[in-house]
Amino acid sequence: MKQQEQRPQTSLLKLFNDLLPLGGLLPKFFLIGFGFTLGIIASFCLMNNQIFNSHDTHFSSSPPLQVTQSALVQLSLLISPPAPVTSQAQPLAPSLQITSSVNENGIEEKDDHQLIGWKDYLKPLEAMHDLNEEELLWRASLVPQIEKFPYKRIPKVAFMFLTRGPLPLAPLWDKFFKGQDGFYSIYVHSNPSFNESEPQGSVFYGRRITSNKEVRWGEFSMIEAERLLLANALLDFSNERFVLLSESCIPLFNFSTIYSYLTNSTQTFVGAFDELGPVGRGRYNHHMSELIEIEQWRKGSQWFEMDRQLAIQIVSDNTFFPLFKKFCKRSCYADEHYLPTVVSMRFPKTNSNRSLTWVDWSKGGAHPARFIRTDVTKELLDRLRSGSNCQYNGNTTNICHLFARKFLPSTLDRLLRFAPEVMRFDK
Ligand SMILES: *[C@@H]1O[C@H](CO)[C@@H](O)[C@H](O)[C@H]1NC(C)=O
Ligand SMILES: *[C@@H]1O[C@H](CO)[C@@H](O)[C@H](O)[C@H]1NC(C)=O
Ligand SMILES: *[C@@H]1O[C@H](CO)[C@@H](O)[C@H](O)[C@H]1NC(C)=O
Ligand SMILES: *[C@@H]1O[C@H](CO)[C@@H](O)[C@H](O)[C@H]1NC(C)=O
Ligand SMILES: *[C@@H]1O[C@H](CO)[C@@H](O)[C@H](O)[C@H]1NC(C)=O
Repeated sequence: MKQQEQRPQTSLLKLFNDLLPLGGLLPKFFLIGFGFTLGIIASFCLMNNQIFNSHDTHFSSSPPLQVTQSALVQLSLLISPPAPVTSQAQPLAPSLQITSSVNENGIEEKDDHQLIGWKDYLKPLEAMHDLNEEELLWRASLVPQIEKFPYKRIPKVAFMFLTRGPLPLAPLWDKFFKGQDGFYSIYVHSNPSFNESEPQGSVFYGRRITSNKEVRWGEFSMIEAERLLLANALLDFSNERFVLLSESCIPLFNFSTIYSYLTNSTQTFVGAFDELGPVGRGRYNHHMSELIEIEQWRKGSQWFEMDRQLAIQIVSDNTFFPLFKKFCKRSCYADEHYLPTVVSMRFPKTNSNRSLTWVDWSKGGAHPARFIRTDVTKELLDRLRSGSNCQYNGNTTNICHLFARKFLPSTLDRLLRFAPEVMRFDK
């Protein structure tokens, strides 16, 4: 054994001894090159060790290895390269000084460690951050190339609320989400002028995203805000399904039904249809014809539901987004055409072309019917829950809508009274 180990060494030495006396240039090059290679290999091994160990030390209780500053920097560079410094975009909001954080239950958690934990890479602790729009979209568009997750990933549903100001139906949603921690995330986009916050015990507390977008009804700013919501939700690697809601939306089923419906679905739910009249193809602008033919123009509900794959495509869209921003203005209503058209053109196979949010257009006009207190009855809720038929994963079902709008604040009392029973809220 010992002899075998030594043999290569002695023969190498012998080789050098044989070569050196010759005094030529060639052997010296060999020697220098050999030492150089050895040095590179050695430092490389050392660096690799540090990179992989630094992750383990954070969680193991065994005596921590000495993690050098440079190894940490290497680690953070590997996982999340810094955003380009040359960016011109304006910050979305003044940067926040984060010393402690609030978890999904609204409970404050103190940072008691200096290292960037593995979990910090999977999910930002705060909904607010100091990324500007360009940085945010870039970060949200990252896709892992290794398919197997190095942790037990429970797919979450991201509930994204696009609101003007307060959420009057928050108490209903609080009941809906009760006991479902770990299966959902919440993101709220409110207008920057709104300066109140939800009470600490609410699921909405601390879930407002950073934005300087003043959203106006029917204008392109709506699409921009929707894209910000998607991008923020994508930062959490566990979010798998993404649903857009408003302050006047209610859930029609309990959490477990909605969660299963969405996470098991083979399709996305972006409403899309071809309407020939003035409020459909009539809104098409011929300046778009290089990229979109009038036959490809679609209309549909703004209230979408999509999977992670589609969400990543939408935040990365550099083609149609600027086109709509330029040519779909005012009476074009981009919020009713951008997603329906783009999804129908680029991802027609995986879209169901129907929206999951029930809304009543039967009264006509530019706005759907609004429900007031006395409208809310068990019969109404039952009708919305199962009053129609549609396709789900290739089968016919009578569960076609998981959400409904528009419910005015005055409906809250009766909703709180009927909903838990009619919708069989999870206990
Ligand atoms: C919120 O804004 C209103 C007016 O826009 C102002 O009167 C009020 O003081 C503000 N509240 C806080 C907490 O900043
Ligand atoms: C749907 O997902 C749930 C998990 O929420 C699972 O228990 C159930 O078996 C799935 N159903 C189908 C038909 O795949
Ligand atoms: C949805 O619309 C697209 C494009 O118009 C079409 O190709 C697709 O078959 C439709 N899907 C369903 C489920 O109807
Ligand atoms: C859909 O129908 C097929 C047969 O037609 C059945 O095997 C399958 O279980 C059904 N799926 C659901 C979710 O009901
Ligand atoms: C949730 O609602 C479904 C019907 O939509 C029902 O079958 C189920 O029992 C409810 N879950 C709980 C925990 O009550």
